[in-house]
Amino acid sequence: MFDTENFQQQVISWQQSHGRNQLPWQQSAGELADAAYRVLVSELMLQQTQVATVIPYFQRWLEAFPDINTLARADEDEVMRLWQGLGYYARARNLHKAAKYLAELPEFPASLAELLQVPGVGRYTAGAIMSFAFDQYGPIVDGNVRRLYCRYFAISGVPHSTTLEKQLWQKAHQLTPTSQSRRFSQGLLDLGATVCKARQPLCEQCPLAADCQALLQNRVSDFPNAKAKKAVPSKAGSFLWISQGDAILLQKRPSPGIWGALWCLPQVADDSPLLAGAKLHGEFSHQFTHYKLNAQIWQISAEQYDVNLRQAAPEIWAKPTELAMLGLPAPLKIYLAAKLQP
Ligand code: ADE
Repeated sequence: MFDTENFQQQVISWQQSHGRNQLPWQQSAGELADAAYRVLVSELMLQQTQVATVIPYFQRWLEAFPDINTLARADEDEVMRLWQGLGYYARARNLHKAAKYLAELPEFPASLAELLQVPGVGRYTAGAIMSFAFDQYGPIVDGNVRRLYCRYFAISGVPHSTTLEKQLWQKAHQLTPTSQSRRFSQGLLDLGATVCKARQPLCEQCPLAADCQALLQNRVSDFPNAKAKKAVPSKAGSFLWISQGDAILLQKRPSPGIWGALWCLPQVADDSPLLAGAKLHGEFSHQFTHYKLNAQIWQISAEQYDVNLRQAAPEIWAKPTELAMLGLPAPLKIYLAAKLQP
């Protein structure tokens, strides 16, 4: 018979002595709503991004938007500017939406069912808020937990398939304790990040090693099963470089969409008539999850920027000194920094 309590205790004791307990989102000033807000922000930031990258963003964010109401009232441009460089910008828009929704409620929702009603909050984030903010029953499965459970129970399956996800969430629901859930959930994440790592796991340091099925079968590297590798396609993108004096024309990208709500050089169809007499100004590439963007930047004059061919999107003339105030896609920021050097 599987000893759930023993499993929980091992994770909890290990977290206490070896886990991460000084992360900025774990330090709460007191109010529960404050703790929940910090967890919501950090968990959305951490969804696709490493802890070390997130920390300075988290700190800047909390200075700019110390609570839900400040964020709810904030201007979208300011929100996007503070997220700039973290990527996956839908997360920033969702967080803004979530704050607007939460600001209308009398108090921060404190049950899994209510949290799932918050825009942008899925079952992982709902579980994380229950565990980390309220120290209440909050099952979680993220990449770290998935790897740990797949190995510990030698669970096979196609990564991210409905069948595998269902099994993993079932485990999470069964294994998560009703007390010390905060330490347990943090322990799972910490074990996944520092011991049960994707490459070169440190099994000799693992508190769960004695019963880890993958280790007992000497098949740790078989779990989780590898995803079938797909070739990542490339796409071309044509952007316009239009300057006037030292100002450069930027356009707000439609949202949702790639770089939605960020300021960018106007993008046109690769066969746009605007490119007819254009001169190649430069190039950059950017790797998105599903494709690689090969951007070509074409220089045209303000006069050539035919009013009939323009998209209906907000535009601004930005001077080099103003760029820091705008939310721009990270690769464009690098491109502009190189090109606008005095
Ligand atoms: N990754 C996602 N959430 C985390 C957390 N609370 N602590 C450390 N790593 C995480």
